[in-house]
Amino acid sequence: MKILVTGGLGFIGSHTIIELIKNNHEVIIADNLINSKIEVLDKLCQITGIKPAFYQIDVTDEEKLTEIFENNKIDGVIHFAGLKSVGESVSKPLEYYYNNLVSTMVLSKVCIKYGVQKFVFSSSATVYGDQPSPLREDMELKKTTNPYGETKAMSERILTDTVNANKDFAVSLLRYFNPVGAHESGLLGEDPNGIPNNLMPFVSKVAKGQLKKLSIFGDDYETVDGTGVRDYIHVVDLAKGHVKAIEKLDSGVNIYNLGTGRGTSVLELINAFMKVNAVDVPYEIVGRRPGDIATCYADADKAEKELNWKAELGIEEMVRDAWKFEQQNV
Ligand code: NAD
Ligand code: UFG
Repeated sequence: MKILVTGGLGFIGSHTIIELIKNNHEVIIADNLINSKIEVLDKLCQITGIKPAFYQIDVTDEEKLTEIFENNKIDGVIHFAGLKSVGESVSKPLEYYYNNLVSTMVLSKVCIKYGVQKFVFSSSATVYGDQPSPLREDMELKKTTNPYGETKAMSERILTDTVNANKDFAVSLLRYFNPVGAHESGLLGEDPNGIPNNLMPFVSKVAKGQLKKLSIFGDDYETVDGTGVRDYIHVVDLAKGHVKAIEKLDSGVNIYNLGTGRGTSVLELINAFMKVNAVDVPYEIVGRRPGDIATCYADADKAEKELNWKAELGIEEMVRDAWKFEQQNV
C-alpha cells in the first residue's frame, strides 16, 4: 500500500515508518516539524535504506494537503500529527483544539474526496478517564481531565460519525497506553523540547546528570508500592500494531487498545532502569500531580484476537533502549 503518514517525523510516527517499510509499504510523510527535526528523515534512510517522500506542510492546510492527494495515489493514512503535552494543553487550549481537531477533520474530508478508505488514528488511553483497570474497548468513556484528552475523545466521535455517514470510509482508533523506549539502533527515540513531562525521558536525563533528581508524584496511591501504575509499551511494539491495524482495516469503526496488559509502578520502572543500565537515578517523593490517576493498564486481548498483534518487548528492553538513545543523541 501507499500510505500517507502525518506526523511521521515524530516519536511514534518515525518508528512506525520503519515497520511499514519493512513490510513493503510505500510511505509518504507530511509533517510541519512543530515537534520534530528534519534529521529524522536521514536517520530513517540510514535504518531502512529508503528515503520516503517528505512534505513539510501543516495538516490543517486543506489546499496543501489536497496537492499531496492530487499527486499520489494514496491507499491509506495514519494520522499521528497532533500536539500531545497534557500540561501545555491546559494553558493553550485553543491551540490544542484547533490543531488536533482541524487536522483530523481536514484529513478525513480530503480522504473521502479522493476515495481513500483506510484511516488509522492515534488515540490515547486518556479517553477512558478514571475507571478501574484493565480497560476494555467496550467500556463507556469517562470525562477526560484536560483539553488534550478532550481532543482525543472528540476526534474519536468525529471520526465515528464520519464513518456512519460514509459507507466507504473505515477507521481504526488506536488507544495507546504509555509508549516508551527507542529504536534498537539508538538513532531514533523520544527527544522532547525542554524539561520532559513524562516519566521515562525525565529518568533518562537524571541518569545522564542533566537533571538533578526525579520527583516521584505521590507514594500514597492504592497500588503495589504506593506509586502510580501504568502500562508502558515499547515504541517498536506499538509501531508494529499500526502495520497490523492498517493491513486489516476494511470497514466500520475499529477500536483497539495498544498496551501490554501489564502495569508497572514508578518505583518498579526506576529500579529496572538502574539495574539494567547500571546507573544511578536519584529521586525524592513529592506530592501527587494534579489530574493523575492511580492505575491505568490495558486489556490487550482484542488486538491479539483480531489483529494477531501482541506486545513482545518487556520493561528491560524499554529501559535499555531509552538509555541507549539518550546516551547517543540527546
Ligand atoms: P510527537 O510530537 O513526537 O509527533 C507528532 C508529530 O506531528 C511531530 O513530528 C509534529 O511536528 C507533527 N505535527 C503536529 N501538528 C502537526 C500539524 N498540524 N501538521 C503537521 N504535522 C504536525 O508525538 P508522538 O509521541 O509521536 O505522538 C504521535 C501521536 O500519538 C499524537 O497524536 C499523540 O497525541 C498520540 N499519542 C501519544 C502518546 C505518547 O505518550 N507519546 C500517547 C497517546 C497518544
Ligand atoms: N511521574 C512521576 N514523575 C515525573 C513524571 C511522571 O512520578 O516526573 C509518574 C506519574 O505520576 C505517573 C507515571 O509517572 O504515575 C507516568 O507519567 P507520564 O507523565 O509518563 O504518563 P501519564 O500516564 O501521565 O500520561 C501519558 C501521556 C498522555 C497519555 C497517557 C495515556 O503523557 O498523553 O499516557 O496514554 F494520554
